Amino acid sequence: MFTLKDATMIYDMDKEEKVYAMKSMNISFPDKGLIGIIGPSGSGKSTLMYTMSTLKKLTSGEIQYNGKSLSSISDSEKQRLRRNEFGFVFQRHYLINYMTALENAVVAANIPVSEARAKAEKLLLEIGLKKSELKHKPTKLSGGQRQRVAIARAMMNDPKVLFADEPTASLDHENAFLVMERLKEYAKERLVLVITHDTSIIKDADMTVKIWDGRISDVERKGEEA
Ligand SMILES: Nc1ncnc2c1ncn2[C@@H]1O[C@H](COP(=O)(O)OP(=O)(O)OP(=O)(O)O)[C@@H](O)[C@H]1O
Ligand SMILES: [Mg+2]
Repeated sequence: MFTLKDATMIYDMDKEEKVYAMKSMNISFPDKGLIGIIGPSGSGKSTLMYTMSTLKKLTSGEIQYNGKSLSSISDSEKQRLRRNEFGFVFQRHYLINYMTALENAVVAANIPVSEARAKAEKLLLEIGLKKSELKHKPTKLSGGQRQRVAIARAMMNDPKVLFADEPTASLDHENAFLVMERLKEYAKERLVLVITHDTSIIKDADMTVKIWDGRISDVERKGEEA
């Protein structure tokens, strides 16, 4: 589904101090499965996710999505991909403060509202929110509760690719487990990329990609010896 060919991303190209965030990455990702992306802070994990999801452009090389180079498609086509095929859980989850947890999950759904509310409620309960919390506004939710609202929101439109940047960072072990169980279930049919510092949550990922200083330093596939 995704193929990266010498994918390179340099921030501040026009400045003296350039930052080489991705250095000639070569890799392919399958149509479905759970992919863990690990690596130290600043190694380029989020940048990889941003370029794959069309939010940022590569400096050189290419990323193909279903055989098409992302650098060759129009802005409207990119928008369509982001809206209909990709789901996002960002490192900082952007919730709307005047809406409840449930409304936040429903806000970008492209199905009728009543259907969306039922689906969002089911998702939120599955990943450990309590029924009474669904009507709380983000300011009354903990970091971990907000994070799970962002996860439910990202899954609402059944994206073909779910990009999740540290989806369990503010969760305790038990809730991280619930979220990962749901993501694993989702990854049976779709592609789920999870960036994490916590390798225990991706120990049964189908593929684990290690990033080191802008390069892919190791790829492990399930069933292969470490
Ligand atoms: N907007 C930006 N402008 C300039 N440099 C940036 C920008 N965003 C990230 N960088 C730099 O690019 C490199 C890769 O950053 P990136 O955010 O991809 O790392 P990361 O692996 O996601 O780190 P973390 O685990 O801390 O989230 C870092 O050196 C970072 O300082
Ligand atoms: Mg990051």
